[in-house]
Amino acid sequence: MKGIILAGGTGTRLYPLTLTVNKQLMPVYNKPMIYYPLSVLMLAGIQDILIISTPNSLPLFRQLLQDGSQWGLRLSYMEQPRPGGIAEAFTLGRSFINDEPVCLVLGDNILYGDGLGGLLQQSAQLQEGALIFGYQVANPQQYGVIEFDQAGRVIGFEEKPKFPKSPYAIPGIYFYDSKVCDLAETLRPSARGELEITDLNQKYLDRGQLQVEILGRGYAWLDTGTHESLHQASSFIQTLEERQGLKIACVEEIAFQKGYITDNQLYHLAKPLAKSEYGAYLMQLLESYSSHLIPAKVPVLEAI
Ligand code: DAU
Repeated sequence: MKGIILAGGTGTRLYPLTLTVNKQLMPVYNKPMIYYPLSVLMLAGIQDILIISTPNSLPLFRQLLQDGSQWGLRLSYMEQPRPGGIAEAFTLGRSFINDEPVCLVLGDNILYGDGLGGLLQQSAQLQEGALIFGYQVANPQQYGVIEFDQAGRVIGFEEKPKFPKSPYAIPGIYFYDSKVCDLAETLRPSARGELEITDLNQKYLDRGQLQVEILGRGYAWLDTGTHESLHQASSFIQTLEERQGLKIACVEEIAFQKGYITDNQLYHLAKPLAKSEYGAYLMQLLESYSSHLIPAKVPVLEAI
């Protein structure tokens, strides 16, 4: 399965922070925001990944993430000239997707939870139809929202409804089969001029090919679109990382655990970062590994 991270947009709700810096390059506690969606794809076992962003920001993403080979990945880059909507990922990304199933992750979404790795790996096996998730939130008005019938069947979606028909919002991680590009081509821009992801999901639903999985209390889904939510996401990550002494969305650690890089490669990645506590963590990881303090496969990577 291929992966796409959509990391463009204008970030207007984060002004003045994002007047000059792309939202997905902002820190979420101790690492750039894009590390979180990248980790999600890595945990799903996806190594062939397209980063889509604005013409201004794309060179910075290239500088940060390079060609991905340092982490055992193949990263490609593509410009989205203007924010034409989330589903545009599939018209822009057609040649990259190349008739394979694909997972799209929004660059500003953070997912965390026990068993997440297993869930993502299983989801990445999808060959037919589409798979999306639902997550109960206190403010569904700000998201795509799922509508259920009396029997609990999904019957439709609404994008940012004033009067939501359920508290279940749709997180920004979507799995689609190889028909997604053809279906995205049939979408028309919405009233706000965007190719809407909810319209694409509706098409799969109408064809009887959409699976919706509800993520329960054991998962955290955070978004980072406002000052408040960005701050909350950073605090959440800090609290967990400090309590456990384990990092969340540490791409080098995931690459190592997945066997994409050797201990020697990890050492060379950690060395230039060693003055930061992030780099020190990688060094400590290597030490624990070489002194057999932790086994090569640590179950904690089930979460990010
Ligand atoms: O966070 C989940 C929600 O994301 C879903 O529940 C909604 O259905 C979906 O429409 C989306 O809503 P947002 O209002 O959060 O979308 P936003 O415009 O903020 O874009 C989300 C991310 O995608 C953000 O990182 C910027 C990027 N983006 C967005 C658009 C529209 C692009 O790179 N290009 C775009 O054209």
